[in-house]
Amino acid sequence: MTDTAKPNDIAKGLEGVVFTESKLTFIDGAQGILTHLGIPIEEWAEKSTFEEVSYALLHTKLPSAAELAQFDAELRANREVPAKLLADVAAYPRTANPMQALRTAISELGLHDAQSEDTSDEARYAISVRLIAQFSTVIAAVARALGGQAAVAPRADLTHAANFLYMLTGKEPTTEQARLFDIALVLHADHGMNASTFTAIATASTLSDMYSCVVSAIGALKGPLHGGANEAVMGMLDEIGTPDKAEAYITAKLDNKEKIMGVGHRVYKNFDPRSRVLRDYAEHVASKEGKSNYYQILETIERIVVERMGSRGIYPNVDFYSGTVYADLGIKKEYFTPIFALARISGWCASVIEYTRDNRLLRPDALYSGATNQHYVELKDRK
Ligand code: COA
Repeated sequence: MTDTAKPNDIAKGLEGVVFTESKLTFIDGAQGILTHLGIPIEEWAEKSTFEEVSYALLHTKLPSAAELAQFDAELRANREVPAKLLADVAAYPRTANPMQALRTAISELGLHDAQSEDTSDEARYAISVRLIAQFSTVIAAVARALGGQAAVAPRADLTHAANFLYMLTGKEPTTEQARLFDIALVLHADHGMNASTFTAIATASTLSDMYSCVVSAIGALKGPLHGGANEAVMGMLDEIGTPDKAEAYITAKLDNKEKIMGVGHRVYKNFDPRSRVLRDYAEHVASKEGKSNYYQILETIERIVVERMGSRGIYPNVDFYSGTVYADLGIKKEYFTPIFALARISGWCASVIEYTRDNRLLRPDALYSGATNQHYVELKDRK
């Protein structure tokens, strides 16, 4: 900042700071609108697949049937990861945090990619396709290794979502389970200039390689204010235990000005449209199999939060319902954040490719508020 800058000039948290243009994602937080390429997220969730939304983000257009088939075939052909990587993942300490393990494994994956240091547009695209395909294999292998199980090899005859669930559990999912998981991936594929995408772009702006960008992004996603929130929601539901305790628990938290996980958003000051889609699916599962404790607790929390905080723009966000959907699919809560990464890899890669086509080094400033007019004090003279 210049000498004339004032503390008021500081954009804390970079809120409202626009540093680039993007054709990928539009968000109107006040209205609760999210679109990719101008198409509402509700339509993507209902009609599309993770493979298609990934293509659309990378190419900034909807694919033709032939283009989608070719892209899908490329993803299927790139699912295998080096045996050495799987052996190393199998030897990680069982106590590792899954995101720590994912960060390390993806960094190692780069060591095995002969093209990893190529930062041309073509190479960034080719690496993106491999990363989207291989994130799935690596995350499933991490989950199995940390649980003491051997990795399950990918199958080329399954969709991206079905293959992931197969590699994770060793069992082929039902069509309904695979579709539900696919929708969750579609909903999380991109979300504008969120912290992890911004981090990927900041790394890319130095013209660093794709793997470094993605590893930086994984580190940013790991934090509880970003990717870790749905795991925290499940922790809260377990703590509440039964639906009859939900009202008193949440009321006490709000009275004590404590934060409720899965609620509030930096951008949305209305219902997060992704949470509405997930709530509909959670409701669908609940209507078929009877309302689970989780679902009943969430209903109560939502009612109280909207009553007490809605006027301040605080509503359930995407993480509020995603945990129960994943839990219904038999996924353990420690893997919710890696699954977020499984989807967001597409947004990270597409954003890096878009940004580096018109690159400018990101180098913001800080208002200096430290001491002035000081002199070096010799060590012997310091108190
Ligand atoms: N529960 C209760 N109150 C909340 C809240 C929550 N989850 N989120 C925000 N608020 C309140 C704050 O206490 C604050 O109140 P105050 O003005 O009386 O101090 C006000 O709303 C503004 O909160 P702030 O944290 O400054 O807003 P933000 O834009 O930084 O918040 C989040 C964005 C996501 C960091 C915040 O809502 C949060 O921590 N949510 C829980 C974690 C979560 O679900 N993250 C996933 C996001 S997709």
